[in-house]
Amino acid sequence: MTPSESRPPQAGGRSRLRRVLVTGSSGLVGSEAVSYFDARGFEVHGIDNNMRRDFFGPDGDTSWVLERLRRSARRFHHYDLDIRDRPRLLALVDELRPELILHCASQPSHDLAKDRPFDDFEVNAVATLNLLEAARRSCPETPFVFLSTNKVYGDAPNELPLVELATRWDYARPEHHHGIGEDCRVDATLHSLFGASKLAADAMVQEYGRYFGMPTVCLRGGCLTGSRHSGTEMHGFLAYLARAIREERKYRIYGYGGKQVRDNLHSFDVCSFVEAFHAKPRIAAIYNLGGGRENSVSVIEAIERLEHLLGKKLDVEYVDQSRVGDHICYISDLRKIRADYPEWTIEHSLDRILSELAGV
Ligand SMILES: NC(=O)c1ccc[n+]([C@@H]2O[C@H](COP(=O)([O-])OP(=O)(O)OC[C@H]3O[C@@H](n4cnc5c(N)ncnc54)[C@H](O)[C@@H]3O)[C@@H](O)[C@H]2O)c1
Repeated sequence: MTPSESRPPQAGGRSRLRRVLVTGSSGLVGSEAVSYFDARGFEVHGIDNNMRRDFFGPDGDTSWVLERLRRSARRFHHYDLDIRDRPRLLALVDELRPELILHCASQPSHDLAKDRPFDDFEVNAVATLNLLEAARRSCPETPFVFLSTNKVYGDAPNELPLVELATRWDYARPEHHHGIGEDCRVDATLHSLFGASKLAADAMVQEYGRYFGMPTVCLRGGCLTGSRHSGTEMHGFLAYLARAIREERKYRIYGYGGKQVRDNLHSFDVCSFVEAFHAKPRIAAIYNLGGGRENSVSVIEAIERLEHLLGKKLDVEYVDQSRVGDHICYISDLRKIRADYPEWTIEHSLDRILSELAGV
């Protein structure tokens, strides 16, 4: 351990607190999870090596989040550890034997992956295997939650018939109104290297569930958001948009007339689902996890609403070429997750998310 890290209390004692391990704990979802579980009395162990800064430069630097967590969380232990470091990761999981593992560390960008294919695959796929195997060896009963992505479906969602409305694309057929379900196919589709590395991890997480009987879940995220996001042009749609308006940066819209649709879920609502899964784990579960139709918004709709909240105009540049594999209209079908976990509800409406990002 480096001096910046704290040593966990000894395991096994009668006074041992409930313990959760979070990877990517300085990122958007991971840092929310640190606060969320800390507030609920857990001892939270977070792994993050600030690789987001390495991926995205100064905009991606997460050290401000770590500092905030160090000040605010009561039972937080941070490890500046690279999840690709297999021996150290295996040793740490064995030392901690947490009762919940939440795996959020990743190379999260669709676009960046092509420039750093080895880093992308090693962080997203190989390091997920490291963590799965660590869990199997040391705490196989522990619920293992993996933040997967809707990019595992590649661009297959774009095959649905669409209709172009004034400010957004939408599904043309009523039977698609609820959005994309977990039965969407994952092969024979263009993923981007990022989608492929996450799909490899997603398959492995399912396999550790089915093959070894471990309580694993893949959460295939839509757009996950919140004010903790170190938003960058390549990752963090709404957070970066708010930042671009506030800081008067030029913002590029790539193709589809800016009418491409995303469904947005606040990182708090991700954590409340993780808590629900922890209370009622399943084996090899898969859920699409987004904001659903109610929290959906197109790029140009989001710009208009954030401009209004911030009282400033955005400097927009249209680029005709769309992003490779970009979804034209993606809305998560939440019927399966709601049927299995009816106690889980989305607390952050789109209005609330936008106000938080605008700081009003
Ligand atoms: N934010 C979204 O819109 C979204 C959408 C779908 C899926 N997801 C998935 O959810 C998860 C969390 O996303 P996020 O938005 O919080 O990402 P994030 O980039 O904000 O957080 C990820 C964290 O992992 C850390 N990290 C990266 N590589 C590491 C390594 N090798 N060792 C240790 N730490 C490392 C980074 O420093 C960063 O703090 C990711 O798996 C992502 O693919 C996110």
